[in-house]
Amino acid sequence: MASAVIKLSAILLLVAVCAADVSHLVGSSEPQPVTEVCLGCICQAVSGCKAGIQCDGDHCGLFHITWAYWADAGKPTINGQSSDAPDAYPNCTNDPYCAALAVQGYMRKFAQDCNGDGRIDCYDYMAIHKRGGYGCVGDLPFSYVNVFNQCVAAVANAQKYG
Ligand SMILES: *[C@@H]1O[C@H](CO)[C@@H](O)[C@H](O)[C@H]1NC(C)=O
Repeated sequence: MASAVIKLSAILLLVAVCAADVSHLVGSSEPQPVTEVCLGCICQAVSGCKAGIQCDGDHCGLFHITWAYWADAGKPTINGQSSDAPDAYPNCTNDPYCAALAVQGYMRKFAQDCNGDGRIDCYDYMAIHKRGGYGCVGDLPFSYVNVFNQCVAAVANAQKYG
């Protein structure tokens, strides 16, 4: 029992930290498809949303974004860098703010009802993020969905009782 409580508060803490990292993004001029809480829970599921995650193999940053994903997202950049610069992709995707912008751009392009429940919500964005915009229907890794679901539930609980 005590360990369950500790685990829950650990999750909440991580969510709060991650939400803090990626906040301010959603308040920009055009409306963004993905909420802050949703970004935070996708981040948790993908990488644990721990600071300091850099490029590893074909993906970079907290959201494990590939070059193709970044390109589909419209190649957002940091500090007004040209999107043609050789390091534009790692520079953006290793920056929590820019990486979150890339997720927003990708979801704006590929938003769809992956699970056929009649609406496009965070569950769909989570599936699109993992499987890509051309094949979001289908199985997802158990641990990925599990962490995502725990995160969403923890946030819902915190909003209900907090
Ligand atoms: C891109 O990243 C490199 C390496 O960290 C850095 O030297 C450079 O200043 C960054 N470019 C911009 C525009 O921030």
